[in-house]
Amino acid sequence: MSLPPKTIAVFTSGGDSPGMNACIRAVVRTARGQGIRVFGIIRGFQGMIDGDFRELESHDVSNIIQRGGTILKTARSKEFLTKEGRTKAYANLLKHGIDAVIAIGGDGTFAGCKVFNSEFNTPFIGLPGTIDNDLIGTDFTIGYDTAINNVVQVVDKIRDTADSHDRLFIIEVMGKDAGFIALRSGIACGAEAILVPETKTYLDDLIAKLKAGWNRQKSSSIVIVAEGDESGGAYAVAERVKAELPNYDTRVSILGHLQRGGSPTAMDRVLASTLGNEAVTALVQGKHNSALGIVCGRVEFTPFEKAIKHHTSLSPKLLHLAEVLSN
Ligand code: F6P
Repeated sequence: MSLPPKTIAVFTSGGDSPGMNACIRAVVRTARGQGIRVFGIIRGFQGMIDGDFRELESHDVSNIIQRGGTILKTARSKEFLTKEGRTKAYANLLKHGIDAVIAIGGDGTFAGCKVFNSEFNTPFIGLPGTIDNDLIGTDFTIGYDTAINNVVQVVDKIRDTADSHDRLFIIEVMGKDAGFIALRSGIACGAEAILVPETKTYLDDLIAKLKAGWNRQKSSSIVIVAEGDESGGAYAVAERVKAELPNYDTRVSILGHLQRGGSPTAMDRVLASTLGNEAVTALVQGKHNSALGIVCGRVEFTPFEKAIKHHTSLSPKLLHLAEVLSN
């Protein structure tokens, strides 16, 4: 790579997450401020294969900081998993004179960057863009704060109905195989129980807890279930609860994709802007092949190798807090 790079590309990949646009904006404006040309690749790795590149100027990223989703669109590309697909992608990078690439996505995206770099030596920087918050090397991923706030807003509303009708709501939230969304949103909503994949789920204990609440005249409850929990999700939990507590009026709510969209919170906008700016700075300084994150307020580089293999774990303190406060 020539230093500083003359031309870079940026793309988003995997599930969209709020703050991706703020991040694209920061990449483009930082790079253009230093005279570096920027191409946006449409639909991630798939767009790289299809040659769908658009040159971006500072004015092209006006008025997007507040928008959820991603103006560059996103995809999960099967073709990129093949050597043939990656060879086509490389030819398109060469065609556009790309010296280095900034990829915004999750661990699947970072895995793609790593393979591609080992084959073609293209320098990559990965930025953590996922609502799941399951990546190591950063305290928070871009989109996580917005997603948990989305959950909290909806669960607060459901709580009104639970309370008015004396009902138990079992609410399933996203997170893939991780419980970060469930844990923080559950604490923020004062959930009576939070079921996450990282800890063993004992439905007998849950039922005993709900029964005890019922006996203390507690007539409404909220249980948050992470989609990846071993219980099998909200419907499976509700079936078991209904069988054991037939008098409790139980309802299920699967929050689904409403968790992932929407205008990013200020926290996500600032995180995304910081990381977009730092990614360009890193490339200018000749650093690459790492995921970039913020840990305790400091920029941290995690080699893709490590970022792919290790997931971050739930805070034992937060797990304990959830337990103590729900009794
Ligand atoms: O990774 C983000 C995420 O929203 C996960 O929480 C969820 O399991 C998955 O993506 C859903 O993917 P899709 O939008 O392809 O159904």
